[in-house]
Amino acid sequence: MNTVNHNLNSYPVGFFDSGVGGLSVYSKFKKILPLENTLYFGDLYHLPYGNKTQQELVSYARSILDFYKEKQVKAVVIACNTSSAQAYDIIKNEYDFRIYPIIQSCAKVIALQNIEKLGVFATQATVNSGVYTKELKKYNPAIQVKEIACPNWVNIVESGAYKNSSALVDIKKHLDEMLEFKPNKIILGCTHYPYLIPLLEKFAAQEIFIDPAEIFVEYIKNDMKTLGMLNLGDRKPYEEIYVSANPESFVEHAKIFYEITQQPKVNKLGE
Ligand code: DGL
Repeated sequence: MNTVNHNLNSYPVGFFDSGVGGLSVYSKFKKILPLENTLYFGDLYHLPYGNKTQQELVSYARSILDFYKEKQVKAVVIACNTSSAQAYDIIKNEYDFRIYPIIQSCAKVIALQNIEKLGVFATQATVNSGVYTKELKKYNPAIQVKEIACPNWVNIVESGAYKNSSALVDIKKHLDEMLEFKPNKIILGCTHYPYLIPLLEKFAAQEIFIDPAEIFVEYIKNDMKTLGMLNLGDRKPYEEIYVSANPESFVEHAKIFYEITQQPKVNKLGE
């Protein structure tokens, strides 16, 4: 992570994800840091990220970070586990603004929660990276971690298919497999998955699931505060919403987490 210019507090914080998932982080950020100016980029053109190669994911992250560089952000929040797992390490020193990856920012707090057996539901690319297990074991070498990929869950959220019985069958299948491991807690290691809590809690107590969004936003807040980066201005903050495709679908499926009050601007970032 790089240092920042302390005079730029009113510059915006940029967020990105493949779609609406990152709004589970964005909405908490807006509540906890309501004075910050914010930008959100939903890369729906490349959705889902979970089945992409590392090379592709690095290229998507670079395009979005280059865009945010032009927008003069003071920080970028990678509100996407897949990009944090596959792209962050490669691009982290290429920009002179702060970059916050969700997995690496939350691992310490989760690892120190006295959990013996921890489940992780995530995308295929996140599971393939092994980054969750690696980061958690850094802070708690004894923790037992089981990662399970749920390849259909992002599409279930982005297509609004959570009302279909086939979605319920798919969710139960992965949950049954996870419960055989007898985890004390299960991380929802993809920012889309908290949308599925109402379905998951049909089969398991809600308390077992960890949505890292709140831990993540607290981490960002403390870090920005320590660095003197918080916006303390009294002007009404602005937000800008961008997508690389399908603005209508984005607005429609965002609703559970965040009411989009403006027509998102479409920017394909050179595709
Ligand atoms: N929401 C993202 C994540 O946290 C990406 C999901 C996807 O597009 O596959 O992993």
